[in-house]
Amino acid sequence: MSEILNNLVSAARDAAAADNPSKALRAVLTDSLNHQEDMADAIAALAGDEVCLFEDDTCSVWTCRYDSDVVLAPHEHAMAVHVAVYRGTEVEVLYKREPGVMRNGGNKAVHAGDVISLGKDAIHAITSDGVGQSHAIHIYEGPLTAIERSLFDWKTGEAIAFTMENFHAMRRAKADMAEFQ
Ligand SMILES: [Fe+2]
Repeated sequence: MSEILNNLVSAARDAAAADNPSKALRAVLTDSLNHQEDMADAIAALAGDEVCLFEDDTCSVWTCRYDSDVVLAPHEHAMAVHVAVYRGTEVEVLYKREPGVMRNGGNKAVHAGDVISLGKDAIHAITSDGVGQSHAIHIYEGPLTAIERSLFDWKTGEAIAFTMENFHAMRRAKADMAEFQ
């Protein structure tokens, strides 16, 4: 792992062990924006669009690159997540589950230089906006791959087991989605 990503993981682990992890993790991400271009380059250099840099019981640190023509399926994390965007614009497509239906709760554009947080009950689909992939770090306040969590049917909101296979099979073309018309 590159030194800058290694340093970020170290800082995240310290923050996740702090008295107020949410505040401390946001501070780590805000601080990382002082090296915005170097962070973006380090994320760009990775082979995968989504790479888990670290996970233990206290936090999970992922790099995330998203394409603007594809929207990844609605899902929960069951824990708070903090996001910093270093290049491009990541778009959180927010949903609320109501009986038998998914309601779009608006689309939140997170531009390069921004830090946002989603609460543990948030449901989002995810994409990017503009030219080229978005480049971000996502830090989850727990062991993301160790817990059971759900994807949700785009229309009915029916819960579907979260697996990477299901996650990628359920992706949609942005051009086909009413949320982006
Ligand atoms: Fe997510």
